[in-house]
Amino acid sequence: MKYYRYLDLDYQSVVKKVYSYLEEYFDRDSFFVPLPTEDILSKFPEIQKSLDPLNLHVSECAIIVYNNSWHNFIHIDDPTDSSRINFPVLNCEKSKTNFYKLKDGKTTRTDAEGELSNVLYALPEDCDLVDSFCLNKAAVLRTNVLHNVVCDPEIKYRISLTLKCKENIDYLLE
Ligand SMILES: [Fe+2]
Repeated sequence: MKYYRYLDLDYQSVVKKVYSYLEEYFDRDSFFVPLPTEDILSKFPEIQKSLDPLNLHVSECAIIVYNNSWHNFIHIDDPTDSSRINFPVLNCEKSKTNFYKLKDGKTTRTDAEGELSNVLYALPEDCDLVDSFCLNKAAVLRTNVLHNVVCDPEIKYRISLTLKCKENIDYLLE
């Protein structure tokens, strides 16, 4: 089982085209910002076209907005959503995505009342680092395992475009 895999997709021309459209969402409070998928796919057919070599079809687009103040906690985004395709948009080359395994006897936690909402998370001391990569090109990554993103302290935002597909894409990580 792989935690991530780089994909040989033409993400650069996609990002160039959609950048100014995405920009108005950079400042949102949430770190997972769903985009109006139908609208963005019709305005920018390049997004779907970029996945044509893999025969995959986009069902949802969102951006992930990270900064170091509170998004570097170790978490699982959504246990029902096992993997996603991410394109680097801004400052991703100055970040690292780390994957973790719980140490024996340790468990994930929820914080329904607090700022982490329903996201499952784990304490750093309960985890072992198992893999790590830099999203400096298109990649598929596992989102139903514990992970975090750590950014260089000087950057304000780290933005990635995340694509959910109609098809199950877990085979890309086998
Ligand atoms: Fe995440």
